[in-house]
Amino acid sequence: MGTIPGVRIGVLTGGGDAPGLNAAIRAVARCGLREGRHTILGVRNGWAGMLGGEVVELTFDRVAGILPRGGTVLGTSRTNPFAPTVSDGLGSVRATIAEHTMEALIAIGGEDTLGVARRLCEEGIPVVGVPKTIDNDLGGTDVTIGFNTATQIAADAIDRLHTTAESHNRVMVVEVMGRHAGWIATHAGIAGGGDAILIPERPFDIEQVCAHLRRRHERGRTFSIVVAAEGATPTEGTLQTLDGKGTDAFGHVRLGGIGVVLEREIEQRTGFETRMTILGHVQRGGTPTAFDRVLATRLGVAAMGAVLAGRFGVMVGARGGAIVEVNLAEALREPKLLDPGLYETAELFFG
Ligand code: F6P
Repeated sequence: MGTIPGVRIGVLTGGGDAPGLNAAIRAVARCGLREGRHTILGVRNGWAGMLGGEVVELTFDRVAGILPRGGTVLGTSRTNPFAPTVSDGLGSVRATIAEHTMEALIAIGGEDTLGVARRLCEEGIPVVGVPKTIDNDLGGTDVTIGFNTATQIAADAIDRLHTTAESHNRVMVVEVMGRHAGWIATHAGIAGGGDAILIPERPFDIEQVCAHLRRRHERGRTFSIVVAAEGATPTEGTLQTLDGKGTDAFGHVRLGGIGVVLEREIEQRTGFETRMTILGHVQRGGTPTAFDRVLATRLGVAAMGAVLAGRFGVMVGARGGAIVEVNLAEALREPKLLDPGLYETAELFFG
């Protein structure tokens, strides 16, 4: 019997970075290399690397020591090969595939990166997706790589803000990430004992928020914590927010700033001294939690399993504790919004 030929497999990370990406890259590489016949090709800087042919071979040595490291050793970008500004992106992707005789590609990313993966699959390019986004708003999986770490960072920050809020009798507004969905805000808000949580799924009325804070202070509380997702929006016509700061290659507006508006409005309307903190990219940086390392490892192993079994156009995901494969198109159909029941649990503790 002749030897079964090895497969040349590309791997890339796209979109915003997230703690746990390196654990996923390591899992893909180690799994592929352990049989001794496959070649693992790391694509630099997400889809930008597929356009520009930036490819490095991953060896055991190249992935050694990366498991606990934040960020991504491959680099990432928000480049969209199908953006109108890119001329013949598909042709360039095909050229990189041909140059490196890549027979399969594993794309680790969120809705944008995996949206490109889905389109490439439709063009006959064999891709498997791995879900990553600290926002946790991707369908087809209970949880995405990076969410657990980001939530822990946000909860730790809320704990710290609590003691200074209490010492100064202040309202503290904490703005966390979460463009379409309030997963981080709600999880960190529950874990940190937030007195109000504002999320994109539920437009807020600033007067109601202020009335709630007044009632709390009338009951003898001298400080409050308000957790707001960056995508939280006021009920139409109730409050002027800041203008967006431009868009990326996928057409997303750069968010960040609802905390500024809330600080100003809460202080003016209630008379309570108010301060805001925008956690921003701190939530995406640094060491992944053990949970994210394990999740990323399991998903990386499963992605390699799908590739070697010849199953493409799928995303690996975690459901009810098990690792599953879902159709990429189905995973991307709509953003995974917060479970309303979870918000109701959080509400029980407001005030
Ligand atoms: O990756 C998702 C996300 O963290 C969003 O919550 C946030 O709006 C966005 O990334 C910020 O992206 P960038 O790093 O490009 O500013």
